[in-house]
Amino acid sequence: MGTAPGSWRGATLAWALVLLAWAGRAGALENGLARTPTMGWLHWERFLCNTDCAHEPLSCISEQLFMQMADLMVSDGWKDVGYEYVCIDDCWMSLTRDDQDRLQPDPERFPSGIRKLADYVHSKGLKLGIYGDVGNKTCAGFPGSYGYYDLDAQTFADWGVDLLKFDGCNYGTLDQLTEGYRNMSLALNKTGRSIVYSCEWPLYMRPMQKPNYTEIKHYCNHWRNFADIYDAWNSVKNTLEWTALHQDSIVDVAGPGGWNDPDMLVIGNFGLSWDQQLTQMALWAIMAAPLLMSNDLRHISPQAKWLLQNKDVIAINQDPLGKQGYRITKDNNFELWERPLSEGAYAVAVLNRHEIGGTQIFSFSTSFLGNGLACNPACSIQQILPTSEDWGLHNWVSFLNVEVNPTGTVLLKVVVIGEFPDEKPVMNINKKLSPDIL
Ligand code: GLA
Repeated sequence: MGTAPGSWRGATLAWALVLLAWAGRAGALENGLARTPTMGWLHWERFLCNTDCAHEPLSCISEQLFMQMADLMVSDGWKDVGYEYVCIDDCWMSLTRDDQDRLQPDPERFPSGIRKLADYVHSKGLKLGIYGDVGNKTCAGFPGSYGYYDLDAQTFADWGVDLLKFDGCNYGTLDQLTEGYRNMSLALNKTGRSIVYSCEWPLYMRPMQKPNYTEIKHYCNHWRNFADIYDAWNSVKNTLEWTALHQDSIVDVAGPGGWNDPDMLVIGNFGLSWDQQLTQMALWAIMAAPLLMSNDLRHISPQAKWLLQNKDVIAINQDPLGKQGYRITKDNNFELWERPLSEGAYAVAVLNRHEIGGTQIFSFSTSFLGNGLACNPACSIQQILPTSEDWGLHNWVSFLNVEVNPTGTVLLKVVVIGEFPDEKPVMNINKKLSPDIL
């Protein structure tokens, strides 16, 4: 029986559509992970590549360090507020692969092996992250995965690893960099294990070529764009400035499953003042950044712990809408940032960039927020940082006078109220910073 030309064309079209849809999906990272930014702990900024366990047993990169951090993440409330991944960075490996070409941990520092460490971390209800490199060697000179993507992915999966930070040192050519990041993503997917894939692809690519973020998001769950963070205000400040200057190309791509990664939280270490720590926490929430602390959970001040465990800030970071925030304006050394949140709310950060003098006031109209919609016709405002305070009701012509310490930030949550409330909105508000609870 012949097929009518019309239905034949219809069938061909249907197949073409199926193929197109398949082609569109091919290569997409659909691992269902990182629906909100990853939260956890990562050793690099605080512990670097310390391999000297003979002299510094408490701070060398060893299984003991990760077991201790896992213990504390549970006992000190970190897990309860959402920190989940205990992540190993560079310098865990032995300098050579084993006789079957598999990566192996340094036998002195990880005598039980990574599988046992993963079991331990899992027994605490946490997840284990590990580190590798797309090129011939890691940044610190340990074996890279080039030529071994499938084998290494399978090894990580066999060990029960839950996250891979994949660095880009010694990558070879630009094509090898790109192919390497793609191939490792596919290799991880092929293992069938759920492994968050944390990339540094755009950071290494940018000096040669503009990164294609749509493609990067198809392969990675988060990606570093900018230089390594270190424990100093300059570093945090430069990261923020870079992000704001590139926001037109990086903000829209972020969303459930794929995030821009401005690098680790260094709160709780040595280099940031209290106000600067507030700024890092507030702005990492605005940027929908992975919250990967690099600090020593065995020695952390109650203030730093309070800040890192602040549920209201974490709720902003983890907001289910999954939109990254952006800088609205930079004026006379103040910056105003906002992040759209679910249910029409906004997080708003006022950052004082002055590095001289005392507390200063930044005044702005609520009509600046949410394209004029955040307080239209009215809104309620909650101050989240430096302390929790109710700022009451406002409307679309309210002026806010916000007092901020040098290099500090005031973080607000603005909730739109659909109709004029009976209560008269407050038109002006002056808020005193009150860090008394700290
Ligand atoms: C690079 C990365 C860092 C860290 C080191 C380890 O510099 O960007 O985050 O992983 O390598 O060597």
